[in-house]
Amino acid sequence: MNNPRNLAWRLNWYRQSELEGALLLGRAVRAATDPKLVLSLTRHCADEARHSFQFTKTLMDLNLPIIQIFKSYQSLYSAHAGVPTSLTQMLAFTHIFEKRVEMQFQAELQTPDLPDAATRTFQTLLNDEQDHLAWVADWLASQPEAPAMLDHYRAVDQAVFQEIQLFSKRIWDVPGLGREPQDALFVLST
Ligand SMILES: [Fe+2]
Ligand SMILES: [Fe+2]
Repeated sequence: MNNPRNLAWRLNWYRQSELEGALLLGRAVRAATDPKLVLSLTRHCADEARHSFQFTKTLMDLNLPIIQIFKSYQSLYSAHAGVPTSLTQMLAFTHIFEKRVEMQFQAELQTPDLPDAATRTFQTLLNDEQDHLAWVADWLASQPEAPAMLDHYRAVDQAVFQEIQLFSKRIWDVPGLGREPQDALFVLST
């Protein structure tokens, strides 16, 4: 059963995390000179910004409140591993994070009573994720330092996932994650 409050928090958390993914990729474009790489990064950035829009629209379609989110999912990685500085580090970080996103969204689709609007959004985004995973894996394959970075972020991802699992039914209890509006109402309209 989908608790509307927990669903609202999850969708808001994804909304903010998608947007921060777009911002990270947008900043990374500065470090790129190869035209093909610039194109891929810019398209990826635009996709993540659109994903944030799609989660926002889904929240509105379901009549769920906007919750201020102060810690994106990625910021939990950065708390363990610092903020990526080089382009290779940033894309290794993105790749491991997006593998987690893929697993997470697939798990969401298994949730009983997931509203249709949310189901459609997760399915659309999972499709885009295939492209993201593929082009980043291709690019990383040509970077000699990438395998060690990927191993590092895999360990970070495991640690973050274990921390978060404890809160899966009450993610509002993750310290400092966000703030509900005072008049928040959690009644799903489907
Ligand atoms: Fe995304
Ligand atoms: Fe993505």
